[in-house]
Amino acid sequence: MRQRNIKNLEEKLAANSAFLIENPRACRGHWAEVFGNNNPIFLEIGCGKGKFITSRAEANPDVNYIAAEGQSSVVLRAMEKAQESKLANLRIFIDFIHDLRDYFEEGELAGLYLNFSDPWPKARHAKRRLTYRKNLENYRQVMKPEAAIEFKTDNEGLFEFTLEEISEAGFSIIEMTRDLHSPEGKVLYESAQYTTEYEDKFSSAGKNINYVKF
Ligand SMILES: C[S@@+](CC[C@H](N)C(=O)[O-])C[C@H]1O[C@@H](n2cnc3c(N)ncnc32)[C@H](O)[C@@H]1O
Repeated sequence: MRQRNIKNLEEKLAANSAFLIENPRACRGHWAEVFGNNNPIFLEIGCGKGKFITSRAEANPDVNYIAAEGQSSVVLRAMEKAQESKLANLRIFIDFIHDLRDYFEEGELAGLYLNFSDPWPKARHAKRRLTYRKNLENYRQVMKPEAAIEFKTDNEGLFEFTLEEISEAGFSIIEMTRDLHSPEGKVLYESAQYTTEYEDKFSSAGKNINYVKF
């Protein structure tokens, strides 16, 4: 996701930083204190412009959400939305996550969202994919035992890869569809209600959306 040449980016980031966490690694083990309550905490890695996570936060005020995004030029829009809508249950941080255990303590997350993650199509880059088995194993360590990961993608190759990694990492599939926005999918899966920018773009072009919860 690219957002080029935003004029006065640093100023705009500073003006919209009400819900920005400057040093997320220092929050490891203290996220409940950051939110000021013990509500469950859900994380999205690679939130882009934040449509998905801000609509979830708006609809579920008793759930805490964290949006992580590596590109500041992209996440600015998410920060603006959070500030405009005064989303007290949302925090945002800017970082490319490599090892989730650097940011969260064992059992700190109640759920994780990976939406339209970068596919890294070359085989030699497979370990960079967010659903690579070692990453899945690291995620599990910071998640509560009953917590689940939800993954959506338009990319068939990445979806097949992810299904293999889910199995290799020893997870069980809870829900799965190759067409989340089919009439049946919309009824069956809560996840169809909360779409991302990429999801809207691909769905409106007629592309099926793959979804798995595990
Ligand atoms: C293809 S875009 C999808 C954005 C959004 N989830 C959507 O569906 O509209 C993937 C985003 O994930 C971000 N990203 C990729 N790897 C990341 C990582 N390890 N940590 C944080 N953000 C990451 C990228 O910067 C990019 O904005």
